[in-house]
Parts: sequence; C-alpha cells; structure tokens
Amino acid sequence: MLRRPKVSIVGAGNVGATAAHWIAAKELADVVLVDVAEGIPQGKALDLMQAGPVEDFDVRVTGSNDYAPTENSDVVVITAGLPRKPGMSRDDLLKTNANIVTQVTQQVCKYSPNGILVVVSNPLDAMAYVAKKVSGFPRNRVIGMAGVLDSARFCTFVAEAAGVSVEDVHGFVYGGHGDTMVPMTRYCSISGVPLEKFLSPEKISAIVERTKNGGAEIVNYLKTGSAYYAPSAATVQMVEAIIKDKKRVLPCAVWLEGEYGLKNLFVGVLAKLGANGMEKVIELDLNDTEKNNLKKSAESVQGLMNVLEGKV
Ligand code: NAI
Ligand code: 2OP
Repeated sequence: MLRRPKVSIVGAGNVGATAAHWIAAKELADVVLVDVAEGIPQGKALDLMQAGPVEDFDVRVTGSNDYAPTENSDVVVITAGLPRKPGMSRDDLLKTNANIVTQVTQQVCKYSPNGILVVVSNPLDAMAYVAKKVSGFPRNRVIGMAGVLDSARFCTFVAEAAGVSVEDVHGFVYGGHGDTMVPMTRYCSISGVPLEKFLSPEKISAIVERTKNGGAEIVNYLKTGSAYYAPSAATVQMVEAIIKDKKRVLPCAVWLEGEYGLKNLFVGVLAKLGANGMEKVIELDLNDTEKNNLKKSAESVQGLMNVLEGKV
C-alpha cells in the first residue's frame, strides 16, 4: 500500500516547529515532532494540524516526548540543542550540543535504522560528525544543513545590492558553517551573467563579509535566540529533495572521502540529493584562493572534532 513519506523532527523549538510548518504547508510528509520539553511537541503539532482546514493540507502532524512514534521515518531532522545567545559563538555550543545529539541519534537509529539524517544542530559540521559516528550510518545517510542557508543569505544580499529578483541569483557557499565559510563569488551569477558585471569588487567583498556574519546579525537583533525562518526553509528544501527524489544539487555538509583533497570530516560542498540521501559529491575546479579558503575552513572544523575527541 502506498503511504505518505514520514519525516520526524527532533527538537520542537523555533527551527524544528517552523520546519514542520513548511513541510505541512507544502504537504510533503506526515511529521512527528519530538522534544524533551513536556507538552511542547504535542501542543505545537495539534496547533499546526488545526491549520490544515484553513490551508488545505491533509498531512498528519503529531508530537511526542518519546521516540516510538518516529518508527520507520524516511528522514529524521535533528534540531535538538541549545541555540546561540548574543556574544556566544557557535563553537561555545560544542560540548553541550554534542551530548544532546549523541542521545538523540541513539534513539533515532533505534527506531529508524534505514532513515536519512539531516542534522541542523550547531556547531553544524561537528554535530553532523557526532551523528555519523553514533549512528554508524554510511555517508549518504547523514547530511548537514548549513550551505543552503548560508547561500540563501548570500543570494539575498546579492539580489538587494544588484536590484534584481532573488529568483535570478544563483550562488552557493562552501566550507564549514562558521566564520571561515567560503562564499563562492566566482561561481555566482545573475541569470547566467557573472556577478562582477553587476557589482564592484568592494560591494562583493562587503556581501561576503555580511554572509559570514549572517547568523550573528540576526542573533544580535533577536537577543534571545537565533534565526529560524530561513534555517527551517533551507532544511525543508533538503528534505523535499530527498523524499521526492529530485536529484537537486545543493550545498550541504557532507562527509568527504578525498574529494577536494579533504578526508574524514564534514564540510559544505555541492552535492546531489535524492532518494538515497547524499548521492554524489560534485567536484568543482577551484582556483588557489578558493582551495586555500576551503582548506582553512576544513581545518577549523577539524579543530572542533579534535576537541570532541579529546585530542586538544
Ligand atoms: P530552540 O531552543 O528554539 O529549540 C531547540 C529545542 O531542542 C528545544 O525545544 C529543546 O527543548 C530541544 N531539546 C534540547 N535537548 C533535547 C534533547 N535531548 N532531545 C530532544 N529535544 C531537545 O533552538 P532553535 O532555534 O530551534 O535551534 C536549534 C538548533 O539549531 C541550535 O543548535 C541552533 O544553533 C541550530 N541552528 C543551526 C542552523 C544551521 O544552519 N545549521 C541554523 C539555525 C539554528
Ligand atoms: C545561523 O546561522 C545560528 O547557525 C545559525 O543563523
């Protein structure tokens, strides 16, 4: 019998609940929200379900404090953890969130041993590593979300500066989800026309800097939490690519096995997403500056992994 795809989201906070909202609004899958906070996933799920008659979606959204209802999920999104507060770097979250992601991954794997994990918790690349290590899943089934968000920020700023529709801006960001991320300006275009035809080098550099600080800019406004509308939309774009087997080419944190000269770590690069999860790493020709910047970013991810492994 045909059944709807099933997506579980662990962490029914800002990112998790808003991801559930986008999934329901797009009628992509049944959703199970899980959180340690009693009543929160149940209450948010019921509230979201009651938007169905207004927004005309039929998917089921349920909430739980335990993992049994997540059984046989096609995709599990992990957003559990603490968000950044003002003045706090993503890396400050490292050990606390590593413990949370460890516990969550153990439970998720028990109930969905064949599922695909989309990790969102920060620091992203290190948490994807924790999920991969704890799950023992192959690399196609553990993918980190950051590149879609960072690229969306980059494209938003480009569209604003050039005075064009965001729909015509194509660009992506490589590297770890941190201050060392690498917006790939040479590959950015507006309807296929290179970016430098529209913007001066100074404007492009300013956009690169703003993109790198994109998360902090929002934390500084919100004060009590971090961004969630764009992060959840970015997560759902990845989920949709997987459950609809779309073969989309998106910037994602993937476990590299020699591509770009990097090995045994998660870092953001373009990858093809489909029914099997991360189906292919796309290897681009990088110039020396891009290669160096990507290497530096990978070193900063490796630094976090070393802290987790007790190597420093
Ligand atoms: P939030 O605080 O609104 O939600 C987090 C939820 O996780 C809370 O409801 C909390 O009760 C729950 N939680 C904590 N421990 C748990 C456990 N052991 N099991 C299940 N649930 C647990 O935070 P928000 O804004 O939703 O962010 C979630 C995470 O996503 C943070 O780590 C944040 O830094 C990260 N993030 C990552 C982005 C990326 O680009 N990768 C973008 C935005 C946020
Ligand atoms: C962001 O970039 C906090 O990582 C999160 O908004």
